Amino acid sequence: MTLQQNNTEFEEFASDVARCLASKSKYLSPKYLYDKIGSQLFEQICLQPEYYLTRTEASILNKHAPLISKLAGSNMKIIELGSGSSSKTAILLSYLSSQKKKIYYFPIDISSSILIESERKLKSQFPNASIIGIRSDYGTGIDRAAAECMAIGNKNNNISYTKLVLFLGSTIGNFELIEARSLLRSVREKLHTNDFLLIGFDLQKDESVLNAAYNDKAGMTAKFNLNLLARINRELGGNLDPRKFEHCAFYSDERHRIEMHLVSKTDQKLYIGALGKTFALRKGENIHTENSYKYNSSQIVALAEDCGFTVKKNFTDEKRWFDLALFSPS
Ligand code: TRP
Repeated sequence: MTLQQNNTEFEEFASDVARCLASKSKYLSPKYLYDKIGSQLFEQICLQPEYYLTRTEASILNKHAPLISKLAGSNMKIIELGSGSSSKTAILLSYLSSQKKKIYYFPIDISSSILIESERKLKSQFPNASIIGIRSDYGTGIDRAAAECMAIGNKNNNISYTKLVLFLGSTIGNFELIEARSLLRSVREKLHTNDFLLIGFDLQKDESVLNAAYNDKAGMTAKFNLNLLARINRELGGNLDPRKFEHCAFYSDERHRIEMHLVSKTDQKLYIGALGKTFALRKGENIHTENSYKYNSSQIVALAEDCGFTVKKNFTDEKRWFDLALFSPS
């Protein structure tokens, strides 16, 4: 990573935090939750018994890897947005390697530490795989991955390769609809008609299941949320006291989303060294840190069509809690 990138990232974080704390309704982009510690905490969330999303999506991948790979053309270059530990993708890669397919994998993640770690693990599991990690957010990440694919070429040993873009873990749900559309449209621009996009949607379901998933008993989601305050302290020289905040996550039936907030337990003053500024927060005031939208099947179809795709197939679990949807350019 170059120094210049570091500087811009630091400046972007500082100015987003300044804007957030100075505004009346305080909202900070969820991407800031995923620093090294945040990404590790997220991996812990995925292991919690209440957090059904990861397990359910993994079980769908386990069951349907052969059909997914067949529909996607069998020989593919896999690009993944927000790859994290890549543990679910490893299911698909294992299947491909059992079929003696050459593996090309381009994981994109915002956290360099998790990218390095997962690349190391995958290289030992799949020694012949070509793995090119891209440390980036999604917008530029997809451009860079498409350029890397092009550089390799579409044909090797006379086999043609298609692209399969993975967007797993209900990360699409962390975007507002308008942002989700613009991201999927930019993915669509990078795809040819025989390429595919596989997206994991968390489906609308009983509220109690949803509320439990985002309020796990071990308190991992709370830690993940509160780590944002510690990150502000570490990187921006803040004096925020995480004990003066409470993790709050709840399902809004009206908006079909889980909202996650940090609620101030007292009237307090927050000093941010990098900004040389103090901000006041009242008791009960909250910082909105993330949303997780829950979809139904007609919303999935509508989103696909709005972005130049058709839904080729939906892979779901028996409870219909999660939908892994295979989109193809229309
Ligand atoms: N993509 C994950 C999800 O929507 C991200 C996440 C983990 C999350 N924990 C969260 C989103 C808590 C909102 C609140 O489940």
